[in-house]
This record gives sequence, C-alpha cells and structure tokens, in this order.
Amino acid sequence: MEGKRTIRFDFNNMMADTIGPEHGITEQELKTIEPLASRYMNDVKEERNKGKLPFLDLPYQKNIAAEIIETTNTLKGKFKNVVVVGIGGSALGNFAIHTALNHPFYNILTDRERKGFPRVFVLDNIDPDRFSGLLDIVKPEETLFNFITKSGTTVETMAQFLIITKRLRDRLGKDYKEHVITTTDGEKGTLREITSREGFRSFEIPAGVGGRYSVLTPVGLFSAAMSGVDIEALLDGAVFMDKVCKFDNLWENPALMGAALYYLSHTKNGKNILVMMPYSNALSGVADWFCQLWAESLGKKFSLHNEVVHTGSTPVRAIGVVDQHSQLQLYMEGPYDKVTTFLAIKRFSKEVSIVSGNDVESDLVYLKGHSLNNVMNAEFEGTRLALTEHNRPNCTITLDGLSAFTLGQLFYLFELQTAYAGKFYNVNAFDQPGVEAGKINAFAMLGRKGFEQRKKEIDIHLRKAQKKYCI
Ligand code: PA5
Repeated sequence: MEGKRTIRFDFNNMMADTIGPEHGITEQELKTIEPLASRYMNDVKEERNKGKLPFLDLPYQKNIAAEIIETTNTLKGKFKNVVVVGIGGSALGNFAIHTALNHPFYNILTDRERKGFPRVFVLDNIDPDRFSGLLDIVKPEETLFNFITKSGTTVETMAQFLIITKRLRDRLGKDYKEHVITTTDGEKGTLREITSREGFRSFEIPAGVGGRYSVLTPVGLFSAAMSGVDIEALLDGAVFMDKVCKFDNLWENPALMGAALYYLSHTKNGKNILVMMPYSNALSGVADWFCQLWAESLGKKFSLHNEVVHTGSTPVRAIGVVDQHSQLQLYMEGPYDKVTTFLAIKRFSKEVSIVSGNDVESDLVYLKGHSLNNVMNAEFEGTRLALTEHNRPNCTITLDGLSAFTLGQLFYLFELQTAYAGKFYNVNAFDQPGVEAGKINAFAMLGRKGFEQRKKEIDIHLRKAQKKYCI
C-alpha cells in the first residue's frame, strides 16, 4: 500500500500544538472523538454492505469502464467536438477531469496535437449568450452531444436538449440521432423515455448514485474517455484510496480524520468556512467539484432526527497563487472563521526555468537559476507558513504528481470524507431538498403540468412582494 501511495494528508497546522488551543484542535479532543469516529466509519461500512451507498463500489465495476471504452472505440474519429450538457453533479466532474488531465489549452490545440481526440465543451449554465456562443463554433455535423441528467427532468438540461436536438434534426434529418448520447437513470425520467422512444445511444447512471457522487460513472467517465483520459487508471486510483481508508482508526484513515478535523474546527472553534485552495490551475475544477459536494451534502435544515439544525460549513474555492493577490488578505487578517485546505503538487509535469542573462536588472537577480516551479513552491510554502504564524488552521493534501490514478484517489477521498462528515453533522449527506425547492418553483413559474397549485402560491407571493426598498 505504502509503495504506491501518492497522496499525503498533513494536518499539523490544524493542531493546537502548532497554532494554539483557541484555533487549533488538541490531541485530547481527537482522542475523545475517536470512538465516535470509529462508530461512524463502521456505520458507513455497514450501510455500504447493505447496498445503501453504491457510489463507494463504483470503482470496482469494471463493466462500466468496459462499456464506455467500447462505445468510445466505436465513435473514434467520427466527431470533432463532444459537448456535455448537464448541470451541478452532472457537469462539475467533467470539468474537474478535463481541467486536471488534459492540456491546459486542449480545445485550441490542432486535431493532430490532440491526437485526433475531439474537443470537449461543457454546457452547464443556460446563459443564452454563452449557449449561443458555443453553438456558433461547433458544427452539428461534427459534434456529439452528451446530455446528462440523473432525474431526466432538470429544466436547464432539458431546455438545452430541446433546442439542440431541433437544430440537429433540421440540419441532419434522421441521422441526427447519431449525434446524441444520453446519460440518465436506467428507468425513470423524461430523458429516459425520450431515449427509449428515439433509440439514442445511452448510458445508465447506476441506481442510488446521486449527481455529486457520480463522477466515476459514465457521467464523468464518458467525456473523459472520449478525450483519451485513462479511465481505468481513474477507477484504480479510487480503489486504491478505498483501501487506504479501510481503517476504522482515526489516525490511519485520512478521509475519517479530514471529516473529524473539519467538524471539530467548525463546531468547537467556529471555523464555518472551508477554503479549498489548490496551488495548481489544473486542480481548479476539482476545487469547484468539491465545493458542490461539501455544500450540497452537508448544508441541511434538518438533522437525521428531524430537529431543525441549519448546519453545514461553507466551502470556498481559491487558487494559488492567484488568490494570494485577491482573497489572502482576508484569510490572514479577517475573522477567524476559516480552515484552509491546500492542494499541492510535488512534481508538475513541466519544469519551466527562468532564463536570465547577465544583463538582468539587479533587482531581479534573485530569480536567476530558479524555475516557475520553485517560485510556485516558495509562494505556497510562504503562504502556508504565514497563515500558520497567524494561527489560522490549515492542512495540506500533497499529490506526488497529477495523473488519472492520483485524481481517482482524490475524488474517492473527498467523497468518502463527505459521507463521514454527514455522520458527524448528523445529516443526510445524500439528499438535496433545498435544490429541489428551487427546481419546483422554476417548474411552476414556467407552467409545468402538476405544479398549478405552487404557481398560484407564487403568483400571490409575487403580487404581495415588497417593492418599497428598491433603488
Ligand atoms: O448532486 C446533485 O444531485 C445535484 O447537484 C444534481 O446533479 C443537479 O441538480 C442536476 O440534476 P440532474 O442530474 O438530475 O439533472
């Protein structure tokens, strides 16, 4: 296990030994919570054994990867573009994988530079200008659209589905079906019905796997495979992390320790904001994906015992070094309400030396012999140290390098950690009633059948709505 371990979780700077007892966690506090943590770990294990947490077994389902690879082989060379259409958990994993593993400017490489793999775009927002802008640059005949929605009814995705399929039909006639592939529930939902009727190519999202836990299903894996990502290595990474986290001992299980530390920092020390700060552009998508996972899973009104708790900590994405010049002032000197998690990469895939001749300004001579990698690392270490010296709790997840195998580990680590955190917060980490409330209102306002009563309530509310305080 140790031999292949490519991720380390360093939480020294979360501890009272380093940042003092007012903002740090003491070893005694961790010892006190240990039995509870072991119980939660075993609860998760039991639920998993009963088949209640299927996302934890996804990496072992080799048939998923096999089906995807078979489909991508059939489609190879046929399309210049793949456009993923989905939102929330049906989009963020796609962003995360592409940003992490593909060339930073993948879509503007030539076909040859992309080794014949198609460009990949993700349409999540329904911003009409962005939507139209994308359709301006992808020709229907060269494009495969992957519509992803677990429920099969999400308004944003289905609205785009209608526009795009009409456009495809108008342009390509009955061949248009070759340009559509759907990823949705196996049985339920409007998109499943349409898929069966039209005979679209399709993937199923395994039953019981919710959007934000679905990156390791065809939701995230198909577009990844279409761009040449080694999806088997992604799954292997997740399997590996599952094994790393098999211990019911807090001190050996990074997912359990992460959940316990964030929970204690929040509930005991008032750190209700969790900053996820990769020192890497490639990991910016992972930070966005994590923010949804953490926010939607733990931000809940009711506890598992139906008490009103209004709990959850607020995830915020920051990017190193960019946000040193934007957010960091607040993190360093503002309220003591944050925990920062750094994601650091030990070895970037490129080493970029700062070339400087003898004529370099004396002020810049110190850069001579360094690389951008050194500068990035110095800025990361410098920021981490400064936060620690200001008694600001922080921890670091260090990746040896960025690969499909490491990314798979990271996804699994964060998903499992969130499931454990749900236990600590005593909330259901797998539903999203708040999101549903917004969806229901949108359906009612748009006149969807079955939502007439809600529409009436909304109309009354809007008529009565206060207009006094508006400039
Ligand atoms: O995590 C979730 O369940 C949500 O964020 C959903 O992914 C999001 O609301 C989109 O839903 P759907 O996949 O049903 O279109």
